[in-house]
Amino acid sequence: MIADLLRKAKRARMHAQAPYSGFKVGAALETRAGRIFTGCNVENASYGLTMCAERVAILKAVSEGKWDFRRILILSDSEKPAPPCGACRQIIWEYCGDIEVILINLKGDSTKYQMKQLLPLAFDKKCLK
Ligand code: THU
Repeated sequence: MIADLLRKAKRARMHAQAPYSGFKVGAALETRAGRIFTGCNVENASYGLTMCAERVAILKAVSEGKWDFRRILILSDSEKPAPPCGACRQIIWEYCGDIEVILINLKGDSTKYQMKQLLPLAFDKKCLK
């Protein structure tokens, strides 16, 4: 399954629009039922409008009514596998909860985390009660 996620993240990464940073990212998000949604980063000349690969994958899934996720794989061409940015951590936590997060680079170096490790003391709906 990881091989499948990696293959799909690589394919998604090829669609990355990163003319400003040159940093292309691919993501593959697996539902508990085994369906995979992919995403790539999509940049904008108004830099702040840039959308990260993870968020694209999550928004694609949620917009198709899928909520129940098992893991996400994030692929980048960095020396060390790149971790998700703060905004993505918040979005992953909101929609995926404590899922497995696999970080991998093009050389195949990878590390695995639980989302809780990446976002301790999260602000979420429990805080709004
Ligand atoms: N990027 C992602 O796609 N995911 C992350 O979690 C980190 C950053 C993208 C956004 C931008 O297009 C480029 O990487 C450089 O920040």
